[in-house]
Amino acid sequence: MTDPILWFLGRGTGVVLLALLTATTVLGVLSTRRGFHPLWPRFVTQELHRAVSGVAVLVLAGHVASAVVDEYGDIRWWQALVPFGATYEPLYLSLGTLALDLLAVVVVTSLLRGRLSGRTWRVVHRAAYASWAVSVVHGVGMGTDVASPWFVWLTVTCVALVAVATLARVVAAVLDRRQAMVAR
Ligand code: HEM
Repeated sequence: MTDPILWFLGRGTGVVLLALLTATTVLGVLSTRRGFHPLWPRFVTQELHRAVSGVAVLVLAGHVASAVVDEYGDIRWWQALVPFGATYEPLYLSLGTLALDLLAVVVVTSLLRGRLSGRTWRVVHRAAYASWAVSVVHGVGMGTDVASPWFVWLTVTCVALVAVATLARVVAAVLDRRQAMVAR
């Protein structure tokens, strides 16, 4: 089946996903710190991080379904899971698939968190940064809207937000380590 509705659905869910995964990544970074205010304790950020990532997984399912059902691109269901072998936009589609696979690892290990050591979970959870970065390249490479100013602004804003949050996270980790060494 090929229908303009499927095309709009693929584009719409892609754009919403970019925003949701950016919000999830930034909230994840923020949830490693203390609360901002007595009225906004840390657990609120953590719950928001979980809720937004849950919605992102549902939207991702819709994004993949619309891409597979739309026969225009001839994307088979397994090409949404295996990051090679696609005939339609093979490089950029594979990056979308890779982003999905990395996200799946992050989601599954988070659901099984109680059975993993804290260190293992933390190391694996860093794959979320890679998933986000790879999905941005996928969106820019495949997007119909990539030439529209609003898409450029959205992408630049998302990249800036994650870059600032990640930098702040790295600086905070370095300062924490220094403080711990001084206290010893
Ligand atoms: C975390 C994973 C993913 C994210 C964040 C993501 C995001 C995006 C974004 C932002 C776009 C551009 C939308 C636009 O045209 O404005 C896009 C396009 C597209 N994505 Fe994904 N995507 C992901 C995974 C996948 C996967 C696994 C597939 C394979 C089934 C896929 C198939 C497509 C297709 C076919 C388009 C082109 C839609 C069009 O015609 O414009 N994506 N994606």
